[in-house]
Amino acid sequence: CGIVGYIGKRDVAPLLLEGLQRLEYRGYDSAGIVITSPKASGLKMVKAKGRVRDLEAKVPKRFAGTTGIAHTRWATHGAPSDENAHPHLDAEGKVAVVHNGIIDNATELRAKLVADGVEFLSETDTEVLVHLVARSQAVTLEEKVREALRHVEGTYGVAVMHADFSDRIVVARNGSPVVLGIGEKEMFVASDIAALVSHTRQIVTLEDGEMATLKADDFRTYTTEGSRTTATPTTVEWEAESYDMGGHDTYMHKEISEQADAVDRVLRGRIDDRFSTVHLGGLNLDAREARGIRRVKILGCGTSYHAGMIGAQLIEELARIPADAEPASEFRYRNPVVDPDTLYVAVSQSGETYDVLAAVQELKRKGARVLGVVNVVGSAIAREADGGMYVHAGPEVCVVSTKCFTNTVVAFALLALHLGRIRDLSVSDGKRLIEGLRKLPAQIAEILKTEDEIKKIAEEYAGAQSMMFIGRVRGYPVALEASLKLKEISYIHAEAYPASELKHGPLALIEPALPTVAIVPDDELLEKNRAALEEIKARSGRILAVAHREQEKADHTIVVPKNETELDPILMGIPLQLLAYHTALAMGRDIDKPRNLAKSVTVE
Ligand code: G6P
Repeated sequence: CGIVGYIGKRDVAPLLLEGLQRLEYRGYDSAGIVITSPKASGLKMVKAKGRVRDLEAKVPKRFAGTTGIAHTRWATHGAPSDENAHPHLDAEGKVAVVHNGIIDNATELRAKLVADGVEFLSETDTEVLVHLVARSQAVTLEEKVREALRHVEGTYGVAVMHADFSDRIVVARNGSPVVLGIGEKEMFVASDIAALVSHTRQIVTLEDGEMATLKADDFRTYTTEGSRTTATPTTVEWEAESYDMGGHDTYMHKEISEQADAVDRVLRGRIDDRFSTVHLGGLNLDAREARGIRRVKILGCGTSYHAGMIGAQLIEELARIPADAEPASEFRYRNPVVDPDTLYVAVSQSGETYDVLAAVQELKRKGARVLGVVNVVGSAIAREADGGMYVHAGPEVCVVSTKCFTNTVVAFALLALHLGRIRDLSVSDGKRLIEGLRKLPAQIAEILKTEDEIKKIAEEYAGAQSMMFIGRVRGYPVALEASLKLKEISYIHAEAYPASELKHGPLALIEPALPTVAIVPDDELLEKNRAALEEIKARSGRILAVAHREQEKADHTIVVPKNETELDPILMGIPLQLLAYHTALAMGRDIDKPRNLAKSVTVE
């Protein structure tokens, strides 16, 4: 689900269609556009189920205008269809709304409107907002929108156009991102800066409870209650080119290939050789406070949760603070005990995932200290947290996360080292780990060179119905993430298990048709892992090992370079990203946009 809007002098339709294409990666099932111009007598709209190119094909030759809003929709209320696609218009065709988020009391509002004689054209929750705006007796468009939003419970990022107020677009945010792009005599709005950076890098990010009016040569922001707010544009550092494919066939491939540089960025400027530690200026946590931490709780969803699991192990190992990770979505629903001596860490690539944001807000409300480990600068979670660190992976476009996962884990290694050196990690261990961190970019480049070999292996496994991933302790989150990657993009069923748990159940599944991918690092658990391989082999299971040396029991081994034991998980996941990628490619999948998934889930 994505929003893009423009008001200025240029021909708006091509601009908005380009913007929608830049948002394609977020995942969607239908798209639509509505436009007008100061001289026009009304609004013109086109919607289509399917891809942005399907919408483009439906846009008539003469579709001129200089103001417009457009949307890609990911179905929540109502199936994907032309009718349910946004924008939505009122019966007179005067008011147009695009909306991200969910209106919780839509059913109730709809019933009231229907009782008043309003006819609905779609099944969406958004349409109630259109009618509320259209029926408002308020004088200005801003007041009409404000009045409508007063009835609404739920989350929204909305953009509204009105035929009688064609000199402006009114937008509002509550729980779903809205960013303004400030141009020269033209203004943009979008749910994601990806849609803006090819036009302007001057950005204003709206806060929850904030609204804005965009006119061609002016913008102003205010609260939903109407009082003015100050919004100073900031300059985004990401280049428009970072959103291009740069010679790769997919964004996923591009992003996997960028990882050596990405890791270099997360390390840059943070290492302090004098004290064998790292500087993390944004944590807002002094040494005394850091010593007072009794526990670390890491929260995230999907791939970020897996990165958090590795992070928890690193913190426990290096800083000797009890640490664990939990899906933010579970945490927020179970009335957790919030403890003042616990450091909470929220992990999110986008910084907008609703479940994570809601967990952070609940924690803050209860007085907890929350850090953010986030990729997107200025995103909601980054702003809500008390401090944190950016992972500097650069824009990640493919729905599934690769380079951001790796950078997040490296960021956790830095955090663990930092906390460790404030506590009991020795200078020599600090030095050893810093050396290990410095080796990572070159080692990643070395792994990426084995792509052809991994591709061949992937082609062999592409026919599997199901695959098992196993790992022990440090290898277990690696197995979890590798299995998630495979299922997300290839749709092959995959399970991840701690290798130690094999004998407690999953061994029953082992047969030649169920291949196992095993994480087998050269660490203190090597012999135990080898024993698991023996058990699988004894049941004629096929094995692909990711290891630091050839594994005899395995049918294939992908050998990765050895680093410090604590940092090995960072490298062991990388060949498995390529494995998932080439498996999905061999199966002809739409790799950058897997079915049913969205890049960032800003709804509950
Ligand atoms: C969605 C994506 C996943 C991602 C998760 C968390 O479910 O499909 O790939 O890991 O959200 O996203 P975040 O932006 O918070 O890291």
